[in-house]
Amino acid sequence: MLVLGIETSCDETACAIVQDDGPAAADPARRIVSHSLFSQLREHAPYGGVVPEIASRAHIEHLDGLIAECLHRAGLKLQDVDAIAATAGPGLIGGVMVGLTTAKTLAYAAQKPLIAVNHLEGHALSVRLSDDVPFPYLLLLVSGGHCQFLIVEDIGRYRRLGTTIDDAAGEAFDKTAKMLGLGYPGGPAIEKLAARGDAARFNLPRPLKGKPGCDFSFSGLKTAVRLALESCGDAPTEQDKADLAAGFQAAVMDVILDRAKHAIAAFDAQHGASGKHFVVAGGVAANKALRAGLVALSEKNGMRFTAPPMNLCTDNGAMIAWAGLERARRGMIDSLDAPARARWPLDPGAEARPFAGAKA
Ligand code: KG4
Ligand code: ZN
Repeated sequence: MLVLGIETSCDETACAIVQDDGPAAADPARRIVSHSLFSQLREHAPYGGVVPEIASRAHIEHLDGLIAECLHRAGLKLQDVDAIAATAGPGLIGGVMVGLTTAKTLAYAAQKPLIAVNHLEGHALSVRLSDDVPFPYLLLLVSGGHCQFLIVEDIGRYRRLGTTIDDAAGEAFDKTAKMLGLGYPGGPAIEKLAARGDAARFNLPRPLKGKPGCDFSFSGLKTAVRLALESCGDAPTEQDKADLAAGFQAAVMDVILDRAKHAIAAFDAQHGASGKHFVVAGGVAANKALRAGLVALSEKNGMRFTAPPMNLCTDNGAMIAWAGLERARRGMIDSLDAPARARWPLDPGAEARPFAGAKA
């Protein structure tokens, strides 16, 4: 089975063709027949964040060409693919509409099935593209737009254990980087600067640490960084900034590891943690300190830590094509009037009980 997947929910215009080709362990790369990605980083960099209108326009400009390039590189014609998948949400609605409408048009023209993929499901299943990870597994999704723990029970069956009540972790990295005068995206810049800093110099808070549940909160930490920076006077030195970057990163790691302990306990109560996989995905998963902490925590709990390769952790077309393939294999096809959605929780019960852990 060959599936074309399209991703346009944020600031990457991406597409890929994946195939179902035996166990991943044999050669994970073989499953990705071809992929193309246009990163809009340069378009958004001057604004220190993603500008929705600019993103939609850039998706319109680049998507057709990327799809043609992807098919050409694979030596395929549109008729050769078995299904067409696209992110249908959640995300910036203008961008989602560009990708989904393009997919619908191609599906109609070529008379192929359409799969409207939840972007979060794309992240959740991407590890099954690179590794043969069986259900159920525990997933920490940490990106610029999301910060949540999910139990991945099966395709289409997700249980959200906790989420952020304000900013996503990546967003906190980006906002802190902006305050420190570093470029966008902030995560890599903060990680680099933190290596030269003293994490203990500033006493920064660890929001929700020690509280029950697995929810996150980062806005108080952001405010504390701002106040600490102001305390350095009008012209903070490079060392001031490095110490703040190190302190901020250490606080985020502390919080994530504390929340992860609770998530593992919740997963253990339902499925038994021993021998199961702890999976991390999303751009923040690139952070080496976070990875090291999560590897140690997983081992301590008898879990197997697994992360997709970095190019599958951040937004990409292959994860959408793969989620489409997993759905298509089970006959989970969508109609051509599938809606584009700005909000679309993976766990339908999650909306009804938002932030339950935070109040506890
Ligand atoms: O998954 P992603 O590429 O895009 C979405 O948000 O969906 O994640 C991007 C986020 C940005 O906020 C970026 O600052 C963060 O991931 N990030 C990092 C690192 N590399 C990227 N955060 C911390 N440490 C890093 N090394
Ligand atoms: Zn994403």
